[in-house]
Amino acid sequence: MWKPPERIRHTAVGDTWPTASEAAASKLFTPLRMGPNALAQRTWIPAMVPWRATEEGEVTDDVVEWYARFAQGRPGAIVLEATGIRDVPSGPLLRIGHDRFVPGLRRVVEAVREASGGETLLLIQLIDFLRIRRRPERAVFFERHLRVDDALRERLGGTRDHEAALRERLAAMDDTELAAVLPPRELESLRMGQREHVGDMEHAHIRELPAVLPGLFAAAAARARDAGFDGVELHYAHAYTMASFLSRLNERDDGYGGSPAARMRLPLEVYHAVRAAVGADTLVGCRFLSEECIEGGSTLADAIGYGRAFAAAGMDFISLSRGGKFEDAAQPKPGWAAYPYTGRSGYECMPQYLSDARGPFLRNVEPTAAIRAAIRADGLATPVVVCGGIHNFQQAETLLQENKADVIGLARQALADPDWFLKVRSGHGKDIRLCRYSNYCEGLDQKHKQVTCELWDREALDEPGIAKSHDGRRRLVAPVWEPLIPE
Ligand SMILES: Cc1cc2nc3c(=O)[nH]c(=O)nc-3n(C[C@H](O)[C@H](O)[C@H](O)COP(=O)(O)O)c2cc1C
Ligand code: SF4
Repeated sequence: MWKPPERIRHTAVGDTWPTASEAAASKLFTPLRMGPNALAQRTWIPAMVPWRATEEGEVTDDVVEWYARFAQGRPGAIVLEATGIRDVPSGPLLRIGHDRFVPGLRRVVEAVREASGGETLLLIQLIDFLRIRRRPERAVFFERHLRVDDALRERLGGTRDHEAALRERLAAMDDTELAAVLPPRELESLRMGQREHVGDMEHAHIRELPAVLPGLFAAAAARARDAGFDGVELHYAHAYTMASFLSRLNERDDGYGGSPAARMRLPLEVYHAVRAAVGADTLVGCRFLSEECIEGGSTLADAIGYGRAFAAAGMDFISLSRGGKFEDAAQPKPGWAAYPYTGRSGYECMPQYLSDARGPFLRNVEPTAAIRAAIRADGLATPVVVCGGIHNFQQAETLLQENKADVIGLARQALADPDWFLKVRSGHGKDIRLCRYSNYCEGLDQKHKQVTCELWDREALDEPGIAKSHDGRRRLVAPVWEPLIPE
């Protein structure tokens, strides 16, 4: 992953924690109305893919156990990992694109209800993504992938060479020569692997995205409701289809790209279709980016516009992330796919402890606060979820007291210690396992390996009955906190 060149080392702070009565008097641990529901406390575990589904996208026992373990800490809400809305093979990524996925997902809902004593709301993040291929070997790219057409011949001075000779000629060029002659998209395919863009209007399946996505999202949301989820989070963030529609880089010319209103059109149509499918009794909100953090990408001013429009449309919450784009991702090795958390925008999404003077903590707070303030200025009370490097009680409580956000999201800190919520609430903050923001977990995610935390995955490996990683070297869920072990 890209890191700020300053490489300043930052450490999470966990010196002072509230007593149980101080916690009880805090804003963090008071309920919050959210659409048709109420959060029992203003805490939230944002979506994190743990790579525990089957190759067919089905729930496994490991998926159930993973979420039950988070639920033992009794946060206000958990958002289930990004779950694919289409019925197409997508590797071990959870799916909800067909009714056959409902019984498995219902098992997760039941396990979370039981483990949290019914205190934790459960949402599921619904995702659509476009195709991305692995970076090809150079020779393979020139032999098979490169599209030789009139435009390319034109760029090569109108050559009439036989196609095979032309391919050979290009394969012999160095990187600088290729940068001068290959069209930008071919160059991208060579360097990063071929990736579909929402602006690829020459392909019918891309052109038709606005026609098909509202129905796909709506059907997935209805399944989520049938499986018992309290709500759905529409994934409009990071490197995926809906975020690409919102992006300033979206130049579609069919009324779904270009101006801010046109870029928001499909996200709003998807929301309305989902709402019509699930009614007012299911929470519906979205996650989007406070800033894309890439050259030419959407800015905070854009995000303020999106937030106002989503709130005005009636979303029950909005959750903010930042960065995480393909556009500035590191070049993958041949045979590997690009990963959208390896560039500067990836750093903004999951900032690591080696950082700049600002550090990895609270980088998303001021943009989130600005988006929330604009929504409030419109007279709307839509709850806003913040996240990014939040790990102690003071940070969380101050953000709420200063009205910078309404709900506090802890992703990696909850992974490091799923009992964070219970420990703080019961006055046991000093027992918290603080996240180091090492991004060991993110490294596993990048390789599609079962995600665990380095702070606990080698602990008590001989404990009877625990689930272990495929190589048997890591435990798959955090050890149980002593006070939670029944006598
Ligand atoms: C292993 C891992 C998987 C993640 N998967 C998702 C995901 O499925 N959807 C999503 O919106 N964000 C995902 N994220 C990003 C987190 O939700 C969160 O935005 C990010 O980690 C920053 O918050 P934090 O500093 O509290 O960890 C993931 C993060 C990690 C570490
Ligand atoms: S591996 Fe653990 S300590 Fe490191 S960033 Fe992930 S959750 Fe935090």
